Amino acid sequence: MKYKDSKGSLDTPKKILKVNHAGEFGAINIYRSQILVSRIFMRDLVPLLESFLADEKRHLQIFWTEIQSRNGVKCKSFWLCGLGGYFMGFVSELLGKKGIMACTWAVESVVVNHLNTQLTYLESKSDRAAYHTVAAILEDEKNHRDIGSEHGGANNIWYSPLRFAISLFTDGVIRFGMR
Ligand SMILES: [Fe+2]
Ligand SMILES: [Fe+2]
Repeated sequence: MKYKDSKGSLDTPKKILKVNHAGEFGAINIYRSQILVSRIFMRDLVPLLESFLADEKRHLQIFWTEIQSRNGVKCKSFWLCGLGGYFMGFVSELLGKKGIMACTWAVESVVVNHLNTQLTYLESKSDRAAYHTVAAILEDEKNHRDIGSEHGGANNIWYSPLRFAISLFTDGVIRFGMR
């Protein structure tokens, strides 16, 4: 997706910040619901998922601080992200450890692609504050994605439909938020 100048009342950097903020809320809910079930069935996975959750909570705060400093708003997709995240987390954990990792890989891959495109846009606009806000979370999201891949979430053929559905929803909700 190409990030272009907004024609509406909200400028594109503000839109990017609110969409990412909502995305972090979605990610928080993915990991929350995965932790809930992993505590019973996959205890060895809990510390890793908790470290992901801590990252996402920090990211949420980073975006919210920048949104407030420029009188931004919460995204219309905020609750949709939360609900979708919780649902995706729940479905993936029913499919076991690889399901969880396929979910992580799919979500974070879409996120990393968007973050990179956003950075290109923000650089072209010389919006340094927004650029640094987005850049601040990029390494964490790449790390989440790569851990998902290391645990077999990226390639296993049986999880292709799950990855496809999750990628589609994640990309869709970002596009919806940017409108
Ligand atoms: Fe995040
Ligand atoms: Fe993440």
